[in-house]
Amino acid sequence: MTDPARAALAVPAPPPVAQRYFPDEDGRGALARRYADWLAGPGVQRGLIGPREVPRLWERHLLNCAAVAELLGSIDRIVDVGAGAGLPGIPLAITCPALRVDLVEPLQRRVGFLEDVLADLSVVGRFRVIRGRAEDPAVRAVVGGAPVIVARAVASLDRLVRWTLPLLGSGGRLLALKGDRAASEVAALSSATRRRIGAVDVVSCGRELTVPTQVVIVTSRGGR
Ligand SMILES: C[S@@+](CC[C@H](N)C(=O)[O-])C[C@H]1O[C@@H](n2cnc3c(N)ncnc32)[C@H](O)[C@@H]1O
Repeated sequence: MTDPARAALAVPAPPPVAQRYFPDEDGRGALARRYADWLAGPGVQRGLIGPREVPRLWERHLLNCAAVAELLGSIDRIVDVGAGAGLPGIPLAITCPALRVDLVEPLQRRVGFLEDVLADLSVVGRFRVIRGRAEDPAVRAVVGGAPVIVARAVASLDRLVRWTLPLLGSGGRLLALKGDRAASEVAALSSATRRRIGAVDVVSCGRELTVPTQVVIVTSRGGR
């Protein structure tokens, strides 16, 4: 097993605000730091994350993703479509210890990384790693009926909605982490896509972070 602590690139210390999402008292802080080591070490070495991301791992990646927990309410299961190195699914699972997470990812190299990380963090039982594309019928058979899908940096909002609507249960929500492009991507939704969905909202999560997370919430029909 790779030792991520032997990372080639030094991971910065977490900022004080990290305690809000990854407190040290109950072990979530240690899990988050270990995951940060994985991203900065094997994640960079295996080409899943750029070396220039390492100095801003906490603010731009772990915390930015964990902040979306404020939108989950009492939901106990999410699907992360296009998980890549595990973002946003793994930080959300660390922040919300009761959450079960399906990580959907088509590329074997990334699937292998996810499996290595989950084994090392000893959280395998709360996760399923599903190799495939969101639009594959085989993926739908496994994760369909999801109450919440999360996705970051996977595709345009219009395409993401088309891929993920069939995976959502009635009234389910797609939470698309979109950054500065949130409003323009909502404006660019095609009329065909708009007709298929219930509601679209843009919200800001983690207002105490240096860069709050802009999330587009797309509610499937049957929701509000
Ligand atoms: C730019 S990466 C982002 C990874 C991660 N979400 C993040 O924010 O760091 C996009 C990921 O989406 C995956 N992907 C692309 N098309 C997909 C599809 N149709 N279904 C599921 N995943 C897909 C890619 O393999 C890749 O891992």
